[in-house]
Amino acid sequence: MQINYKHEQIHFTFVLLLKHRIMKDLMRIQCLISQDIETLLNQQIKKEAHSSSLYLSMSSWCDQNGYDFSADYFLKQSEEERVHQLKLFKYVLDMGGNAISPEVSGIKTDFAGFREVFEDALEAEIAITQSFKNIAAKCHKEQDFVTMEFLNWFLKEQREEEYKARRALELFEVIGEEGTGRWEIDKHVNKINYSEA
Ligand SMILES: [Fe+2]
Ligand SMILES: [Fe+2]
Repeated sequence: MQINYKHEQIHFTFVLLLKHRIMKDLMRIQCLISQDIETLLNQQIKKEAHSSSLYLSMSSWCDQNGYDFSADYFLKQSEEERVHQLKLFKYVLDMGGNAISPEVSGIKTDFAGFREVFEDALEAEIAITQSFKNIAAKCHKEQDFVTMEFLNWFLKEQREEEYKARRALELFEVIGEEGTGRWEIDKHVNKINYSEA
């Protein structure tokens, strides 16, 4: 009797596990991206949210230190990063995945000087480009051409983002920080434009 009971239990557990497995498989069938790609995209959503908050922090620092044009520039950058975040978020959902609303913490609020803000901005953009390249490499490996096509927009966008960050830092070299230098640099930051042609 005892043996039969145990047997029933094992059978019941097995059926439950099987059901769970089938449910999981069904959910995956509905999802058009792999678990790995979904994880990478969710990590990217978090990185874009982090970028958006970091630029907001830079905008605040610039405003409080009298660099109004740069404050404006970083505010716009912050908005752009939010758009990037939502673009990725929507893609994950459209592909039947689970888009995760990210927690963002550890945002730098104090900067040693005006130049450091731009150095940090360039460093952050280079890291983001690398991150997209890693996702693209994974897509190639998996032959996920649909996500690859989606990522092309971001890879192109990074060209512009890195250009602008580099150009801003160049202003420190070209104009120089002495005298009214920083004031001049600030005036030029908002005029940085990228055109492909
Ligand atoms: Fe971005
Ligand atoms: Fe960016």
